[in-house]
Amino acid sequence: MLSVKGLSVAFQTRKGQVDAVRGISFDLAPGETMGIVGESGSGKSVTSYALMRILDAGGRISAGEVTWTGTDLRAASEPAMRQVRGREISMIFQNPRAALNPIRKVGHQIEDVLRQHGRATRSDAQAKAIEALEAVKIRNAAERYHAYPFELSGGMCQRIVIALALACDPKLMIADEPTTGLDITTQKAVMDLMRELIHERGMSSIVITHDLGLAAEYCDRLAVMKDGQIVEAGPSAALFANPQHPYTRKLVDATPRPGVAIRDLLPPEIRTPDLPHEVGSRALLEVVDLVKTYPGKSGPVHAVKGISFTIREGQSVGLVGNPVAGNPPRRRCWCGCWTRPRARSCSMGTRLAAFRRNASCVTRAGGRCRWCFRTRPTA
Ligand SMILES: Nc1ncnc2c1ncn2[C@@H]1O[C@H](COP(=O)(O)OP(=O)(O)OP(=O)(O)O)[C@@H](O)[C@H]1O
Ligand SMILES: [Mg+2]
Repeated sequence: MLSVKGLSVAFQTRKGQVDAVRGISFDLAPGETMGIVGESGSGKSVTSYALMRILDAGGRISAGEVTWTGTDLRAASEPAMRQVRGREISMIFQNPRAALNPIRKVGHQIEDVLRQHGRATRSDAQAKAIEALEAVKIRNAAERYHAYPFELSGGMCQRIVIALALACDPKLMIADEPTTGLDITTQKAVMDLMRELIHERGMSSIVITHDLGLAAEYCDRLAVMKDGQIVEAGPSAALFANPQHPYTRKLVDATPRPGVAIRDLLPPEIRTPDLPHEVGSRALLEVVDLVKTYPGKSGPVHAVKGISFTIREGQSVGLVGNPVAGNPPRRRCWCGCWTRPRARSCSMGTRLAAFRRNASCVTRAGGRCRWCFRTRPTA
């Protein structure tokens, strides 16, 4: 279906030529899912742009052949390529929010794609756009049709981008880092959805990611890229279980799995010393049955539903969860930043004002750990 032979891509820059992709070859069969894995800058995205012929100005395919269902994509005219893009091969870009028009309703954006490729008329475009939203399991699709991207969560934006990519029933979908910036549960939901839709429609797909574990779980075959070259390729399970190239071995070793602490995966020169530390017996923060509700249009919204915990002197507590799991409300409750939350008991071991002075709070958006809370012992 897709055959890539000796593909090279070069960019002309002020500092000279950058050889971003250097002679890569692979084939993709109908219905097959292939993962392209590699570190940042290894040439994964540039490979996909070259296949779609959407390289930045200054970039060109300097060598090789790309054949798509018998058509030479290097030699195809621009109008022929416009037919291939979206209709036969579609692409999900690295950042879903950047891929969407921020000032156009998401439903209208899907209609634009459907009408541009002759898949809908003015009269049935709205119904088909809502169908496309339902296909990617957006709840209240008819309502969400009128939403702007900024009104949706990152996971929802990614579903909209998938809906756009699938709108014209392409034969191949290329997903470039489809889950970057999503929390772990949304990542899984988005990947499961993509797998389901791809299988349902009998499509092929290329998943580009730096996460070898994710690629191994969702792809039949993997290609590992480094410095613009494919250093190793093969069936996912075999490659993961028995990596041959030293770089693949390093990638496999760096994939977190049970029994391996992340610290052990770091190169020795950047590991911080594992300092001994003792957890004291004095409880700094003790919370029992903490509840926080917001007034909502259709009744109170329960942001925190009766949680209990204790933080002892010298202890660090990590709270992990998806973005709607109530983490920021909890943090604000602990710090006493709100009007008093309802709790059976919320004792700080000291006065609240003094506790606020001595508690510090670090927030991080995106990534797997949403935030971290750490107490400093009071003097
Ligand atoms: N427009 C450009 N001009 C010059 N060099 C470029 C351009 N686009 C990409 N490159 C270079 O091509 C190489 C490969 O970039 P690419 O975006 O494919 O990396 P990647 O593997 O997708 O990385 P990431 O995981 O960070 O997305 C890099 O060295 C990059 O600097
Ligand atoms: Mg990239």
